[in-house]
Amino acid sequence: MNASENFKPILMVGMFLASLMIVACAEEGPPKPPPPAPAEYSDKHMPEGYWNNPEIIEQGKAIFTGAENIDVNCASCHGKDGKPVKAGARDFRRTEQMTLYSDAQWFWRVSEGVKGTKMKAWKTKLSEEERWKVIAYEATFGLKGKEYDVANKKWVPQGTAGQAPAAAGEPAGEGATEKAAE
Ligand code: HEC
Repeated sequence: MNASENFKPILMVGMFLASLMIVACAEEGPPKPPPPAPAEYSDKHMPEGYWNNPEIIEQGKAIFTGAENIDVNCASCHGKDGKPVKAGARDFRRTEQMTLYSDAQWFWRVSEGVKGTKMKAWKTKLSEEERWKVIAYEATFGLKGKEYDVANKKWVPQGTAGQAPAAAGEPAGEGATEKAAE
């Protein structure tokens, strides 16, 4: 047995570990919150009635998939069903990542892009309304049935935003939620 053969098992273990690391990197790391939106975006919020409006979501889908304008094809990187097709594109199915953003932060990122990545600024190609539509569609992947509650700064079931948080000790009954949503 010569010296190089002695190293073979070590080499193989090393290659195995390296391949594990490549697999780990292909997945996004643990969810991390995005930086706060700059002042000019911090007061931008989803227009009233957009989150659960099937027509708006349908229009957002047409933008996202490039059906509306082939120059704006979010799906070419983010995937038609929200499963990324380009490495590094944000995976919108990961609820725990998506909920770290406010609606204003999503809007800022879609408007200005993410410097140093393939994510471009879309504000020259999409009106503000179109950007909100595309976000309403994007939200259906990981935030289905939720809306951003601006007053309470969190994601809540659709139709319940803006309600005072349930008082401690008070049972949050179904009936109470339905009544308040009217
Ligand atoms: C050329 C590929 C590409 C296209 C086209 C693209 N994106 Fe992205 N997008 C990316 C990448 C890569 C990232 C991850 C950026 C990062 O590392 O933060 C990203 C991130 C995002 C994020 C999250 C930003 C953040 O803070 O992580 C949003 C929201 C987003 N894209 C929406 C869209 C929308 C809406 C469109 C279409 C109008 C679109 N993207 C088109 C590649 C793309």
